[in-house]
Amino acid sequence: MRLRHIPGAAEAVAAHPLVFDEQAALRQKGRWHQAFAADNEAEPAEGLLPLHLEIGMGRGRFLLAAAAADPRINFLGLEKREEIVLQALERIKNKRQPANLRILWLDVCRLPEIFAPGEVEHIYLHFPDPWPKARHAKRRLTAPGFVAVYRAIMAPGGILTLKTDNAPLFAWSQETFAADQWQALRIEESIAQEETGIVSEYEGRYRRQGKPIYLAEWRIK
Ligand SMILES: C[S@@+](CC[C@H](N)C(=O)[O-])C[C@H]1O[C@@H](n2cnc3c(N)ncnc32)[C@H](O)[C@@H]1O
Repeated sequence: MRLRHIPGAAEAVAAHPLVFDEQAALRQKGRWHQAFAADNEAEPAEGLLPLHLEIGMGRGRFLLAAAAADPRINFLGLEKREEIVLQALERIKNKRQPANLRILWLDVCRLPEIFAPGEVEHIYLHFPDPWPKARHAKRRLTAPGFVAVYRAIMAPGGILTLKTDNAPLFAWSQETFAADQWQALRIEESIAQEETGIVSEYEGRYRRQGKPIYLAEWRIK
């Protein structure tokens, strides 16, 4: 995603009540439900609502629609670039602000420090950067190092959804999740829109271009 630098973006993002920057996120480790409890009336008195995490949420099209569709799930969107978070906040401002949505403004590398083991029930990776060169393979969000981190923070039986337009990344990711003993629930190529659920910004763009969309779902064994 190419973006020009927006002066003041970092300050505006850091000051927004829905946003957790790195320091604020570190303080929530193991008690993310408290970040929602005051606002989300669907939060039960006993037990906790499931926590879903979208990594690389971009401008938040999926996150906002998913949170609006189900108040009984707390959604966190993670994005490292403040200019993009700012655009997501603009989108949220124009809608009714869901009580079950918060934003993490930080790099995915910080995940193990901000979530306790078992805290996340579902992870979404929508159109992650493919990093096609072999020497950049470690940066792919489905690289073995990241897969191990996801395992560490996910609840037993937790599910990870990957959508991509990139066939080589899709094939490579199947190997990395299989090598870490995840159970493949869905592996689908050229999937129709009505079968993919809520559409992210990139999915919308690629569908308009007529590109095939690949979808996989894995569960922790
Ligand atoms: C190709 S875009 C996809 C955006 C969105 N998921 C969609 O489907 O419309 C990838 C997004 O991931 C973010 N991203 C890439 N690497 C990241 C990292 N290490 N930590 C956090 N966000 C990252 C980028 O800034 C960008 O917004």
